This record gives sequence, C-alpha cells and structure tokens, in this order.
Amino acid sequence: PESCSLIPEAWRFDCYPERSVVVTEEMCHQRNCCFIQVSKAGSPEQNGVPWCFYPPDFPSYELAAISKTETGYSGKLIRLQKTYYPNDIETLQLDVLYESNSRLRVKVRTDPAKQRYEVPIDVPVVKEKAPDPLYTVEFSKKPFGMVVKRKQNSAVLLNTTVAPLFYADQFLQMSSSLPSDFVYGLGEHRSNFLHDVQWNTLTMWARDAAPVELTNLYGVHPFYLLMEPNGLAHGSFLLNSNAMDVVLQPAPALTWRTIGGILDLYIFLGPDPGSVIGEYLEVVGKPAMPPYWALGYHLCRWGYDSSNNTWDVVRAMRNYGIPQDVQWNDIDYMDRALDFTIDPVKFSTLPDLVKDLHIHNQRYVMILDPGISSTQPAGSYLPFEEGIKQGIFINKSSGDTLIGKVWPGLTAFPDFSNPDTHEWWYQNLKKFHDKVPFDGLWIDMNEPSNFFDGSIDGCPSNDLENPPYTPGVLGGSLRAKTVCASARQKITSHYNLHNLFGLMEAKASARYALKKILGKRPFVISRSTFPSQGVHSGHWLGDNRSKWKDLYMSIPGMLTFNLLGIPLVGADICGFSDTTTEELCVRWTQLGAFYPFTRNHNTKESKAQDPTVFSPAAQTAMKEALLLRYSLFPFLYTLFHHAHLSGQTVARPLFFEFPTDQKTYVIDKQFLWGKSLLVTPVLDPGVDYVVGYLPQGLWYDFYTGDSIVSKGEEVKLRAPLDKINVHLREGSIIPTQRPNTTLWVSSGQPLRLIVCLTEEGLAEGDLFWDDGEALDTYETDQYAYITFRLKESTMTSEVVHSHLEASYITVETVSFYGVKSTPTSVTVNSQEAAFNYAANQVRVPKLKLPTPYGERELT
Ligand code: GLC
Repeated sequence: PESCSLIPEAWRFDCYPERSVVVTEEMCHQRNCCFIQVSKAGSPEQNGVPWCFYPPDFPSYELAAISKTETGYSGKLIRLQKTYYPNDIETLQLDVLYESNSRLRVKVRTDPAKQRYEVPIDVPVVKEKAPDPLYTVEFSKKPFGMVVKRKQNSAVLLNTTVAPLFYADQFLQMSSSLPSDFVYGLGEHRSNFLHDVQWNTLTMWARDAAPVELTNLYGVHPFYLLMEPNGLAHGSFLLNSNAMDVVLQPAPALTWRTIGGILDLYIFLGPDPGSVIGEYLEVVGKPAMPPYWALGYHLCRWGYDSSNNTWDVVRAMRNYGIPQDVQWNDIDYMDRALDFTIDPVKFSTLPDLVKDLHIHNQRYVMILDPGISSTQPAGSYLPFEEGIKQGIFINKSSGDTLIGKVWPGLTAFPDFSNPDTHEWWYQNLKKFHDKVPFDGLWIDMNEPSNFFDGSIDGCPSNDLENPPYTPGVLGGSLRAKTVCASARQKITSHYNLHNLFGLMEAKASARYALKKILGKRPFVISRSTFPSQGVHSGHWLGDNRSKWKDLYMSIPGMLTFNLLGIPLVGADICGFSDTTTEELCVRWTQLGAFYPFTRNHNTKESKAQDPTVFSPAAQTAMKEALLLRYSLFPFLYTLFHHAHLSGQTVARPLFFEFPTDQKTYVIDKQFLWGKSLLVTPVLDPGVDYVVGYLPQGLWYDFYTGDSIVSKGEEVKLRAPLDKINVHLREGSIIPTQRPNTTLWVSSGQPLRLIVCLTEEGLAEGDLFWDDGEALDTYETDQYAYITFRLKESTMTSEVVHSHLEASYITVETVSFYGVKSTPTSVTVNSQEAAFNYAANQVRVPKLKLPTPYGERELT
C-alpha cells in the first residue's frame, strides 16, 4: 500500500528481525507488514534498512483507562488483535511514576496477581510525586503511546508512538525516537565510545568471548546516555535482565527488544551528563569505595607456573624500584584447576609468598572460577560434595545437577541466587584464607562460561531453549557456551537470571564473604557485570590482544564502564593474548597508568610482559609512568570518593566537562580524570608526537607548568617514548604526593599541591582522606575532607570534615601555575616564606604545613 512507501527508510521499524532467514514478500505479508526491498542484491543486513516493516496502522495496545495517583498515573492497556508471536499478554498495567524532578519511571507490567519475573535488584520505592519535574508526559490512547518532553525546551526525549508496542510472553518490544545521534553506554560491546546509529543492533546476553565488534560480550547494561542538540543530556535505563537486542537506527530511533521480564523504563533528565550518571546510580547503586591499594599497580599472568616464579617477579620489581601494590595468580596456582585448592608441588611456597608480600606492604589476589569439579574421587573434594548436600548448584530442568565443563573438566555451577550458596562460598573461602591469607578476589568465567553448549548432555527442547525469537547472540542460541536457558535456579530459570550471574557472584564474594573474612573494604574484580555491579566489584575488559587497536579500544571500554557505574575498570595492560612488543607495552603502561584499575596480565601462551623483562630504557619509562600514577594517588582517591558519594565518573569523557562543545562528542582517544586532568596517550607505533584536542580555555602542561590557551583546537604534542602527555585545566587544585613503590609508603608522604590559575587568578580543589581500608569510613564519619581555594592571591584550605587520619599528612610544596609576574613576597600563615619564580610559576617549597584542624592561608 501507498502508506508503506511514505515511510522514510530511516523510520522503518523492523517487522522481521529473525536472523536466520532472508525475508520474502510473502513472509512479510503474513505478518501484515509492509514489504519494500531496498537493494536488489544481498540481504537487508547489507545496508540495514529493513525490507519488512510495520505499517502505520499495525495493531498495538490501546490505553483503556488512565487515572492520577499519588505518584503519577496508573493506566490499563489492552490489546484487541493478536500479534504474530505466541502468548500476547492482552491486558497490561501501566504505572507512570514521577519519582523525582529529574527521574521518570514507566513500568508496564502484567496483572500483579499473576506471577511474572522482575529483576531482583533493589531500586528506590518512591511514595510521592516529584513536585517540580523537569519533564512533561503525554499519552496517546489508540494506539497507546507516550511522549516525554523536557519542560525547559520541549525537546522530545521519548516518543513511543513511532512503532507498535509488543508484550508477548517471550517478545517485548518498545521503540522510541531519539533527539540526536549521540548515544553512549549500552555495554558490553567493543566499539567506539560513540555508538553508530546506522542500523546497529547491540545484543545483550553475557558471553565469554574475546572482544570483537558486533557481538554480545561479558556484561549486560541496558542503559544509555544521550547528548541532546543543545548540550543537555538525558539517560534511559531498561530494568530488564533477559536476552535482548537494542536496535539503533538513523531516524534516529532506538528499539528495546527483550524476550522476557517486564518493561520497566527509567528516564533521567540530567540536565548535564554527569548528573545523568548520578541519577542512574541513585537507582541501581553507587560504586563502592575501593581500598587504597586497589589503585596501585597490579601484576598478573596466566602461566607463572609456580609460586617461586611468581615470587621472582615480585622481587625483580622491587629490585628495579618499579611500583607494585598487588601480585596476582591465575588458575595455575590451583591443583588441577580446582577451586579452593593449591598445587601442592609448584605452589607449595604460596603461603610464604603471601606473607612476604604483606611484610612489604603489598597485597595478594587470586582467581576463582564458578565451575566446581564434579568428578573427584569420593571424599577428596568437599566443595563439590558439600555443595551437593546443601543443594546449592544450578539444576537441569529435570531437577538433577547440571554438569558442564570448564578448566578442571566436568563441573557443576553454583547458583548465587540462593542465599545458601553465599554461605557455602563464604565457608570455602574462609578455609582457603586460613591457608593463604589473600586480600581480594578475581572472579572470572562468570557469564557463566561453559565449554559445552548447555551441558554435557545438551539441553531439553522447550520454550525457554527455543524462544519464538532469539536475539542476535553469538553462537545463535542462548545455550551457546553457557548453561541451558531452562536450567533451574532458586528464584527462577537461568533464562531470566543468566545475565545476573556475575553480579550475584560478586555480591556473594564482596558483601558476604570478604567483608566477613577480612573485616575490611572488599576488593573484587569481575568479568561479567550487570547494573549495580559497581556496588560490589570492579571489572576488567577481558581477553584483549597485544595489538595497537586494542590499546585504543581500551579507552572507549573504560569510559563506557564509568558511565555504567563501574569506575574501577581497566584493560589487560600490554594485551592478554598474542605477543606484545616493547614499544606497545611501554605505551600501554603509560595509558594503563591512567586506567582507574591498572593491571598487566597475559596468557600462558605468550612471553612474560611484566616491566622487568624489557630493556633498561623501557623499564625506566614504565617505572616513570607508574610513579606518576602513584604521585596522583590523593587526587585519584578523592575522585573515587565522589564516585561513591554521588555517582560521579572517575575516568571521564571530555564532553562531560564541555557539553556544549560538539567536537568533544566523538573523542575517545583522550579522556579526563575528574574535571581537570586531561590524558593524551600515544596510540600508534613509531611516533614521537601525538595530536590531541584541547577544549577552549587555559591548559597547563602537568610536568612543566607551561600554559596553552586553546580556542577549542587540536594541538600537536611532543611524545617521545618516555612521555605521556598530561594537562591540567585552569581553575583546578590537584593534590599530589611524592611517589614510592607502594601506595602504603607513598600515601604517607607529604602533599604537593598544584594550583592552576584561571586568567582571573582563581582555583579550587579538594582531598578526601581516610585510613584507606576500613569499611564504610564515609558512612561512619571516619574520614577527613578538605577543600582548597585560591582567590585574590590568597590560598586557603578548609577542613570540611576532620578526622585524625588527615593529621598525619602535611603539605610539602605548593606550585602555582600561571602566575604572570614575580610576586613581591609570599607569606604562609602570615610568615614570610621562601619561594622560587620561573616560567610563570611560583613554587613554595619546604613547607611543613599540617592539613587539617583549622583554616590555613598561603598568600
Ligand atoms: C579467561 C580470563 C583470563 C584468564 C584465563 C585463565 O580467559 O579472561 O584473564 O587468564 O581465563 O584463567
């Protein structure tokens, strides 16, 4: 019909998303959809435009009733005509909740009397309607649709009238127009930081796969941040844990297409990008404050092969004076890859190694995989036997324990949705900790990864295994390299819980086991993640390669996870698989020194790549980069405090600070720490310069204090192999410290403040300080918080919150960048003080200023 051809290509919403078939006109018409073949040759995937798409009058739901409630609106949706997917749910309940002035929640559920799976994570329950929302909501009745606008400028943030709503038992779909192409988030995928909206389907289903483009990876995060045309930002979060596709198309528009659960959509109105993230994390949970040593350098590899070899590396690092806080071991420490065991021969000295690390103020972290060996002789492997007795494993739909295969051979998989499993996990960890007093945990393979598809004997044939629609998962089926979708867990099927495995394991590990065992802030790094993960763990970006491209891709990955509330993130420095080169490894260590979580790790197939194996020049460059990181510890630690307190990002895209500068929207080769420290790494081989963008304003070279005034332009920066470019933004005060080889020593050193003047001579900064590893120091008032301010040539510090801890640090030097002429004098607390002046820089050395308890002045 003519109405079909009137729909512009960019606005065609796919009526035939099934991948296994090339849709014909006949198949399309069976679905009562429009068919227009866009290019004669090839399949629709070649240019993305769907050939089969919904006509304007495709049947959808009607809004049968709507009424005001205490919190917004409540309505009833009815469907009069069935769709082409089985089990349409014909009556739905709509709740529109004005949860806060910047947060709207749209929950579309089935009849509350009928049980239907909803994601078991805690979200705020709001009792009253927000008094002065930034948004307006309009409904259309037939077909049902919703339009959400930003009150301030009437920008349309959500418009679901663009395509029909689907709500069948295993196919739920909602589309909306988008106010711009600038979409970020939607992890975990390998891509540029800014998503492509040219017919780009991002599939979400936790999967063990070495990161490549266009496949579902380890984690699942149905959240996006969008930059609106005028520099304002909003976010959107679908609280749903089932397998899904998120389709971006050039209208621009987005479709959420999920195969279970309910549609529970949040919209966050910012209005600036940082606030959007804070508002999102208000719902799912803000990141944990890491222990101080988590921010040091971590060294790991698969294939040290013995505790003595591991120890040798630690000693070599010490001998070369290269900073290292944490030594890790991969599965080779275990006896035949069995969790909670130690190889009795090759790793017999492991307890001594850990003791030695502790004596040197270093820490130890080891890996644990979820797969528990099921084939050990009776009486020889209690984790399995007790697990069976306690009924804590995932079962097949028949009720027997599901058996898959991981490193130790055949395995059962713990069901972390069962509280008994947390206790079992804790007991096993406790026993292990009595032997090897580890300090943190690396939880891997927790998608969960399975070397079989489903189980040793496959999977039964049922609706969960063969849903009417399967999202574009790698391997083509839900069971691919994981356990059966129809496997049974305590609270529901694996079909619903699959994407939550890593989250639930992290919760069992951090909040339950480690807190009890260590009584300190837990440190957990997880491969699989889900919204609210940051509350329990950090993340590393998985099995990358020693390639220049992977060096670059780590920046979009790191930035994305900062948007997703998991700021403690980094990639395997120097690359996991393949063999690194010295140049790549130096550049990677420089960039890695600015990952919030900085760990060098590689596979047993490759050669050692810790800093000590390279030439003296390379070692020195790596050491310098790590010392630089250690010197910035007070600044980084304070950024983590703000992440914990208000959900701020630590590693931050430039546009967060310069939201009206559209040139920053595509930048993912540079990033900021907080508001003010700009990192411009080298990402290419064989160069001694790098081109970077400096947003408008005054920037200072971190090392020299030299200033650059930028109109918002690209600059060519010198970058010999031993240098990573770092710039400081005008107006900031950065607390640094004399670095050392462990953060324990380094964090006891006096502060060196760097003050970066604006043209008007203003600057400010802050410092959060506590004992570094006690639990909940902010929540229990065991911390100091100090602000620094420069105004009218006077610098003051204010102790906003005092605590004994902070009395241990003093201020050693203050450097003022951007002072245009020699001051006649400098006074410190009214006393004349010595100072140097050179190159627009005043340096006040040899101070012994205590930081807390009272106001301090430096004039
Ligand atoms: C997985 C992990 C990798 C680890 C390996 C052996 O591939 O992603 O980091 O080294 O398993 O445990």
